[in-house]
Amino acid sequence: MKTIDWKHLTFSYTECAKMVRCSFKNGQWGEVYVTSDFYISIHAAATALQYAQQAFEGLKAFRGVDGKVRIFRPEANAHRLQDSARSMYMPPMSEEKFLEAVTLCVKANQDYIPPYGTGATLYLRPIMIGATPKVGVAPAQEFEFMCLATPIGPYFPAGFGTTPFIINRRVDRAAPFGTGQYKVGGNYASSFRATEPAHEQGLGVLFLDSKEHKYIDECGGANFFGVRNGVYVTPKSDSILPSITNRSLMTLCEDLHIPHEERQIPVEELRLMQEAASCGTGAAISPISRIIDPDMSKVYDFGITPGPVCCQLYHALQDIQFGRAEDTHGWNLLLEDC
Ligand SMILES: Cc1ncc(COP(=O)(O)O)c(C=O)c1O
Repeated sequence: MKTIDWKHLTFSYTECAKMVRCSFKNGQWGEVYVTSDFYISIHAAATALQYAQQAFEGLKAFRGVDGKVRIFRPEANAHRLQDSARSMYMPPMSEEKFLEAVTLCVKANQDYIPPYGTGATLYLRPIMIGATPKVGVAPAQEFEFMCLATPIGPYFPAGFGTTPFIINRRVDRAAPFGTGQYKVGGNYASSFRATEPAHEQGLGVLFLDSKEHKYIDECGGANFFGVRNGVYVTPKSDSILPSITNRSLMTLCEDLHIPHEERQIPVEELRLMQEAASCGTGAAISPISRIIDPDMSKVYDFGITPGPVCCQLYHALQDIQFGRAEDTHGWNLLLEDC
């Protein structure tokens, strides 16, 4: 076991021992292998650097109450990376190879999997990039896949809490028929101009649909849901990332007899909601205290303590991820020799 101060790990990158790589050459993905070299050598004209031909994923491995290691829903990430790769004109990697890569990455970094009870987890970051040098605007023929791991501290070191958010009508995250539904780097680079100034003020950003600025889309790196009279409501939109956490929460709603709806949510409907939250791999659920809409001179308040539905769902999800509750949906990939 590594001598890492698990209790004081932050939500940032800590280098592990190894990463996993795989190359696409001559029309096919090659062997997955482990390396301790975190630097990759690509031509400066590679399409990833010129045209952002790139896609990535984010998922977590958890050390459970029984000491066993579980990766949460990696097949779902495999499928989403396939969709993102296709959207960027990159060759999708098979689910089998993706699972081999993430499993190998966790096993190669066993000493960095935080112990149970610290709230910390091992975050996995698969990345796919176009590697062929091109100056004309065209996709690559050769691609590189990497999977990085990093131990990260709990999102709420001081306990499950709330964060204030702000609506930004001056920056759109994703265009209609754009790439908002894919996990591709350009979506994130282009939203820094909204998220960074907000973060400096301790705020998260809530993006609206870019066509009308009428409906809620999603948060910078997470989906949105609200609770209206006991009903879990989450936006239906073609330009948001299909969150695996959000999908899991809707399944848990069914288990817990909480009605759920996936539909367009007009911004003004926030005044009828008792709870609001962002949801994603990073925090699972991050409840929202208030949403400021400066252009409309409105503030929607949800209270500074997480509401009952947020708490119920948060604990139900974490109980499965940390092996405290039966995994009735078969979400966890259990690693035997870890
Ligand atoms: C833009 C965006 N939306 C939603 C999510 C949440 O998705 P997931 O629950 O699969 O982590 C993420 C994080 O991956 C994200 O980057």
